[in-house]
This record gives sequence, structure tokens and C-alpha cells, in this order.
Amino acid sequence: MRDKRRRFDEDTYTRRGRLTEYERARLADEDEDKVPGDGDRYSTWDTGERGPEPYPDWVVTDLAAVDTELGILKTGKEADVHLVRRGVPDSARECLLAAKRYRSGEHRQFHRDSGYLEGRRMRRSRETRAMANRTSFGRNLIAEQWAVAEFASLSRLWTIGLPVPYPVQRNGTELLLEFLGDEDDNAAPRLAELRPGEDQLADLWFQAEKVLERLAVEGLVHGDLSAYNMLVHDGRLVLIDLPQMIDVFANPGGAGYLARDVTNLAGWFAGKGLDIDVPGLVGSLSERAGLR
Ligand SMILES: Nc1ncnc2c1ncn2[C@@H]1O[C@H](COP(=O)(O)OP(=O)(O)O)[C@@H](O)[C@H]1O
Ligand SMILES: [Mg+2]
Repeated sequence: MRDKRRRFDEDTYTRRGRLTEYERARLADEDEDKVPGDGDRYSTWDTGERGPEPYPDWVVTDLAAVDTELGILKTGKEADVHLVRRGVPDSARECLLAAKRYRSGEHRQFHRDSGYLEGRRMRRSRETRAMANRTSFGRNLIAEQWAVAEFASLSRLWTIGLPVPYPVQRNGTELLLEFLGDEDDNAAPRLAELRPGEDQLADLWFQAEKVLERLAVEGLVHGDLSAYNMLVHDGRLVLIDLPQMIDVFANPGGAGYLARDVTNLAGWFAGKGLDIDVPGLVGSLSERAGLR
């Protein structure tokens, strides 16, 4: 009986010619083994999902390009972020990418799994079961769900002109993003790490308010907004870390998430000495989002 079911599942996948995302990830991993050099791989540009068009000029689209790992930018409980150079051998054409790789390991702790993923319906019950039972297949799917969700959020925000890193690609559990940093490959600082003077602080708050306003008007909530999930790149405030972005109308907890996000971020600025009416701001943004 069990065998029969498995055969049925496999048949379903083959008949529809569907390569599951899991398979894609596995194939991508296999591809990584056929690397051009130590730790390098051929550009993954021709596989997976691509970011919104038109592609920015700086994105290297040559299929002969090679991705080289330059090091780790940050390790986290849920994802690691690596610096990758995508360059065409023997040419000056290259770009730097931040590769955010979601973990699917047994000991990965993802504080965002509960609540956010609830209610997102999965089409295939076999996958739902695997995710609920946290089999390794299921854990990989969960990690991939987050990658898919973050890529979609970034693409959406980029398209409507909010300041986010350009999302170049997604392959399985890996996102390739525009690297925000300087010429020496140093990543842009998080807002939380800055010690801004009075003028810079006022300017950053001006930018932050515009971002909050724009998100509210779109009915969107970052979902984990804080001074740690904003980078300051060339004086510009950029939003990052968006796997849990929510639509305030689709999510019953929307109003609460909006209030929490605004309070977190505005609270950080208030703590630096700016005179901000935080509850008043929560109220006016909730109104802009159509919540009251
Ligand atoms: N596009 C990027 N350019 C430069 N650094 C980045 C970029 N994306 C992420 N980082 C770095 O990696 C850290 C973690 O990324 P983030 O998306 O916040 O993941 P998480 O907090 O879930 O680990 C960031 O705080 C930042 O230092
Ligand atoms: Mg983060």
C-alpha cells in the first residue's frame, strides 16, 4: 500500500513534468559539485527564479560567469549570508552579491515558523505532512518557503520603489541579493550600529517615516522591523530581512504586527532623543493602512 502510494506520487510529478523545488535545490547542489575551481560554481543565472525586469545594468547575466565565495557576512540561526562575486573570467565584468541561505538543519531555530506560516495553504498534502513532521524533506521545504516568501516580498517592494536590495535570484533555499557595501567589500552598517549626529539622525528618521508611510499605504507590514533590519548604505536607509512581510488584510494579526513594527522602529529613534509621538504615529499609520 505504501509502495503504491509512493509510486503514485512519483508518477504525478513525472507526468506533469514538474520538477519540485526540492529537486531543483538538489540539482543545484549537484551542480555545485561540478565547480570550475575551489569552492566556485558556474553562475546560476539560468536556473531558478529571477528578480523583476528590467534587470539593473550592473547584474551580470553572462552564463559563462563564475560565482566565487568571498566569505561570510553573517551567520544566523535561520540563515547565513555570504559574499559572492559573480564575474566573467578574463573580463572586467563582475558584480557583488549577498547570498542569503536559509538553513534547513535539524537544529535550526526559526522563531518565525509559528504564526506566520499558519494559514498559508499548501497544495500538496504530502508536503504539508512532511513539514508538520519536520522530516528532513519537510524542513527543507519550510526553509524554501521562507526563501520564496522573502524573494516575493523583495521583488514587490523593489517594483513599487521602496528601498530594498535588488533581488537578483532565488534558487531553492538561496537568495542572491544586491550587495550593499563599500569598495572594500565591507557590508553597510545596520542602523542599530550607527552613532548618528543630530543632522544624520533627523535625516534617517525622515527616510524611515517615508518608508513606514509607504508600507502602510500599500497595506504591507514588514513583520520584523527594527534598527537591525535596516542598513544604511551611502546615507540611504534600506530595508532588509523580509521573509515574514504580511498583507494587513490577509492576516488577522495585521494590526498588531503594524503597531509592533512602528513601535520598534520609532522607539529606536525616540531613544536617540527625537521627539516622536509613537502611539500617535501608530494610530495615523493604521488609518493609512485602512485598519481604522
Ligand atoms: N544585501 C545585503 N548587503 C549587505 N549585507 C547584507 C545584505 N543582506 C543581509 N546582509 C547582512 O546580513 C545580516 C543578516 O541578514 P538578514 O536578512 O537580516 O537575515 P537574518 O537576520 O534572518 O539572519 C544583515 O544584518 C546584514 O549585516
Ligand atoms: Mg535580520
